[in-house]
Amino acid sequence: HDIKFLQGNIILVGMMGAGKTTIGKLLANYMGKTFIDSDHEIQQRTGVKIPLIFEIEGEAGFRRRETEVLHELVQAENVVLATGGGAVLSAENRALLRQHGIVVYLSASVNELQRRTRTDKNRPLLQTEDLHARLTELHAQRDALYREVAHIIIDSGKQGVRSLVQRLARKL
Ligand code: S3P
Repeated sequence: HDIKFLQGNIILVGMMGAGKTTIGKLLANYMGKTFIDSDHEIQQRTGVKIPLIFEIEGEAGFRRRETEVLHELVQAENVVLATGGGAVLSAENRALLRQHGIVVYLSASVNELQRRTRTDKNRPLLQTEDLHARLTELHAQRDALYREVAHIIIDSGKQGVRSLVQRLARKL
């Protein structure tokens, strides 16, 4: 069947470095949907980068902004929405996401996540001496939440993004 006829939203969740943005853009293009990104939207609205929000308002302040933006973004139609890695931390957000689209968990191993986030300065939670330990800890805290909220789970580490997008589109 032609997957372009599939209406509705696709919502991507998963850890930092799982590929939500990269895969989301390709998937949107492939399926004729519009790509939106909650972190990008938060930065647009505040006019500053995420590290500065964490610096001034703390993680709690960032989470408030994230929840607010998600409530608005899920109202869109026929989009692929990439969420921030911590969007699933609140039960309120998990319920919201599930109600407004097909939620896809892009899972990846800690080693893979580390490889993809190694030189990243834009993620305040990863500015640490021991990146592997931090990612292991976050993964342990969150993996069950991603699984809980997801309708579909897909391993993002196994092959190139093109075949991943095609494999995912077939599952929808
Ligand atoms: C976060 C992930 C980031 C961003 C913020 C916090 C997290 O988004 O929202 O730095 O708690 O995992 P990405 O998953 O797009 O990197």
